[in-house]
Amino acid sequence: MGKRLILRGVNLDIEANTIVSVIGPAHSGKTTLLRVINRLIETQREFMRSGDVLLDDAEVRRLDIDVLRRRVGLIFATPVPLPGTIFDNIAYGPRLQHHHRRQQLADLVEHSLRSAFLWDEVKDRLSTSALRLSGGQQQRLCIARTIAVDPEVIMMDEPTSGLDPISTAQIETAMRELKKQYTWVLVTNNTKQAARVSDKVAFFLSGELIEMGEAAQIFTKPKDPRTDDYVSGRIG
Ligand SMILES: Nc1ncnc2c1ncn2[C@@H]1O[C@H](COP(=O)(O)OP(=O)(O)O)[C@@H](O)[C@H]1O
Ligand SMILES: [Mg+2]
Repeated sequence: MGKRLILRGVNLDIEANTIVSVIGPAHSGKTTLLRVINRLIETQREFMRSGDVLLDDAEVRRLDIDVLRRRVGLIFATPVPLPGTIFDNIAYGPRLQHHHRRQQLADLVEHSLRSAFLWDEVKDRLSTSALRLSGGQQQRLCIARTIAVDPEVIMMDEPTSGLDPISTAQIETAMRELKKQYTWVLVTNNTKQAARVSDKVAFFLSGELIEMGEAAQIFTKPKDPRTDDYVSGRIG
């Protein structure tokens, strides 16, 4: 069977408590990068990777997979609530981890929903089905569910691609507000969104990291002409 390189020579650092956006056209390898970081790639045996992915100083392959996925959460483009109540969606991860007293769990659910800017909208219906929430609310529910297991890094793969502008703004606000607590990796096909929220931006094209830098630099003075073409909308 032939081999195909999906990502090549990628070398990047993500500093704690920053928002890093990963931008680039479709099929440039953005999703694959996230899947390498949290080892989802291992679910497909035909994938191979070389090099190191370090979380602090630990190669992710040396970490227990459940611990890794708790420390590094991943949120997808389409929110996937569990069938069940809003409360149970948030409590699911913590219940797997530890035994909590009832009040502790209620506090954790409230804290998580508040952090994701969802509490006020759902506090009176925690025992109703999560599937009845709007798309924007479901996406914030997924963020709250991630927060509930106390992650360090939250990665999101085009989290607002299916959302209206108000829901999108709520998620961007949550990211900014929570930067002191978490490190964010945001894959987005929306360069304006990357410009609004990021500290740093990494531009990928055909599996290569073309350029990474401060957001202002990438959008106003890109060094590589290919970055310029992409951020100015000439290619996409
Ligand atoms: N499961 C897979 N099997 C084979 N090729 C894949 C698979 N997933 C992704 N690819 C290929 O890898 C490349 C990068 O894909 P992806 O990481 O999804 O890009 P992006 O998220 O930037 O759109 C694409 O050319 C895609 O076809
Ligand atoms: Mg993708």
